[in-house]
Amino acid sequence: MKLKLLCCLLTSIIANKKLAVIHILVHLYLMYLFPLVALEIFLIFAFKQFDHNVCRYMRATGGSSRVMCDNVPGLVSRQRQLCHRHPDVMRAIGLGVAEWTAECQHQFRQHRWNCNTLDRDHSLFGRVLLRSSRESAFVYAVSSAGVVFAITRACSQGELKSCSCDPKKKGTAKDSKGSFDWGGCSDNIDYGIKFARAFVDAKERKGKDARALMNLHNNRAGRKAVKRFLKQECKCHGVSGSCTLRTCWLAMADFRKTGDYLWRKYNGAIQVVMNQDGTGFTVANKRFKKPTKNDLVYFENSPDYCIRDRDAGSPGTAGRVCNLTSRGMDSCEVMCCGRGYDTSRVTRMTKCECKFHWCCAVRCQDCLEALDVHTCKAPTSADWAAPT
Ligand SMILES: *[C@@H]1O[C@H](CO)[C@@H](O)[C@H](O)[C@H]1NC(C)=O
Repeated sequence: MKLKLLCCLLTSIIANKKLAVIHILVHLYLMYLFPLVALEIFLIFAFKQFDHNVCRYMRATGGSSRVMCDNVPGLVSRQRQLCHRHPDVMRAIGLGVAEWTAECQHQFRQHRWNCNTLDRDHSLFGRVLLRSSRESAFVYAVSSAGVVFAITRACSQGELKSCSCDPKKKGTAKDSKGSFDWGGCSDNIDYGIKFARAFVDAKERKGKDARALMNLHNNRAGRKAVKRFLKQECKCHGVSGSCTLRTCWLAMADFRKTGDYLWRKYNGAIQVVMNQDGTGFTVANKRFKKPTKNDLVYFENSPDYCIRDRDAGSPGTAGRVCNLTSRGMDSCEVMCCGRGYDTSRVTRMTKCECKFHWCCAVRCQDCLEALDVHTCKAPTSADWAAPT
């Protein structure tokens, strides 16, 4: 607890000195009031709408929801209102952050930009969000999808006051295999989408500039992506699985499916330009197809992400692990941008000489295995000076 407080305190100080003081006071006060309730988690609030590290209070009691919402930096007033009204939904969103962050990092694991932050930049996605790049499009879509997913799941688990399983999925219905009964709990994705739209989009509705239009488009694409993987699941009843009676419900697929889908959309993202009257955008290159609501769109070309550049949101690839035998994006050639790599030998424990013992166990020995790890060299000063 003390360690977390310290961690929270230090990062807050770095992020925002004034806020840190408020935070400490609020925290100490809460610890004093509710020693058990003041369980605090510290999250780097990856969520772009917050863009700052946030100390969240796990259990938002009546009194502390005000405290929690007022201390989330970067909320616009509409978002703060929603936070006050639905502290439990905010908590669900907060818990989802780690999940969609991990999904983003998984999808970009072999790339120069790996969805990681710059040191000392505590907004997880760093400054990539200041640009309207393809990566930014992905981040907006995946986090917006993540909000839908987190809220919908919390609904089904009965954690939210304002929603529950889909009330429309009742009675009997028909599909290609005949009629069935709705039963169990159908994921209430429409609620998740509605809340996510109200909350996530609130920030972009303030201004109507090009960047806001792009973000709104990608936010919507993200929300729609989750719904795409809503599948009907059924259970058969009746004598020996004859399936004379079926009960079905709608369930969201694993978030990985949404991540994989958005990754394909990222690779096929469409570059756009504002149209003449500034009310929307059109495809930048007339030879390419027009973006649909499912496509991701972006304005600016991405930097190469080779060297560290705060303004471009690039942490650079110095120190990144590369794969000597790969010929893809994670190869040492591509990852290190031709700067070369260092090799170090590391040893690790593995299970080996496993033998099967009658009956029924497999026993292994611990072996030390040596392997070479290649990491990209940092640019030399000459590289820095070279025009890019
Ligand atoms: C490196 O790339 C090769 C070829 O793509 C692949 O088979 C291998 O599993 C990769 N190694 C690691 C450590 O990822």
